[in-house]
Amino acid sequence: MTSPEVSAPAPDASWTFEPIAVVRSCFKEKFGIPRQPGLAPHAMGTLKFKKSTGYSQALKSLEGFSHLWVIFVFHEHGAKNWKPTIRPPRLGGAKRVGVFASRTPHRPNPIGISVVKILDIRPNAKGGAEIDVEGVDLLDGTPVLDIKPYVAYCDSVPEAKSSWATDPLVDRVELKYSALALKKIKTVAVKIPNFAKLVDELMSLDPRPAFQRKDPPGGHYGFRIMDWDVKFTAQKGYLAIEDLLPFEKLNAVKKQNSK
Ligand SMILES: C[S@@+](CC[C@H](N)C(=O)[O-])C[C@H]1O[C@@H](n2cnc3c(N)ncnc32)[C@H](O)[C@@H]1O
Repeated sequence: MTSPEVSAPAPDASWTFEPIAVVRSCFKEKFGIPRQPGLAPHAMGTLKFKKSTGYSQALKSLEGFSHLWVIFVFHEHGAKNWKPTIRPPRLGGAKRVGVFASRTPHRPNPIGISVVKILDIRPNAKGGAEIDVEGVDLLDGTPVLDIKPYVAYCDSVPEAKSSWATDPLVDRVELKYSALALKKIKTVAVKIPNFAKLVDELMSLDPRPAFQRKDPPGGHYGFRIMDWDVKFTAQKGYLAIEDLLPFEKLNAVKKQNSK
């Protein structure tokens, strides 16, 4: 019921928002990013705020919260191309659901929401305030419109039904590592704590797009994590992690081969 005193916004009203921060994350490409936050708990990111004393002060008392909501723009998807229904990859591309019954980036207003874990807050960092977070599903460079503390008593609904978006754990695949890959991952982990866990979490989600998951066993693939390329093959019932190459080096090899 509409009260006569309260006027609704005109149907053509629009708002302009400026990002408050940008996400620097371990995902440099859209390919293989988990479809929701927390699926790779060690996927790290930093929210880098625009330099402003206002934003530094606005973070006051956030340290008492363990998690926060990141409200962001799917900047690598055009809202123009959205369609009312989509085929969620997890339903094998067979069934259509409405955009508003999904978390797809392809929506009329390309805005996303992710709950992430707070690791460290630096309100007075030199270039502008920073917050280190974990469990991200966000592309490097994602513009942030707002953050809000996660408040368990009202944000958590344990009895909630999730229709087609069922328990993600069923989708994990078995992994086998070569001695070479293990050795290289351990070397990187000396400088990047939790790198081994991150590789394990991301690879067990099978980073290949749905169409490649149907490939016959034996296919070779690469998956970029930070500045590394995880080389793997798909075998019957598991993924074999074969090698880890610096991403730059791989590009250089590709360039050389194409000459
Ligand atoms: C299904 S969406 C869910 C995002 C958010 N948790 C939500 O529910 O609104 C997650 C996917 O968005 C894509 N993505 C992440 N950051 C993006 C960005 N800045 N622009 C476009 N796509 C992005 C990645 O491919 C990721 O797998």
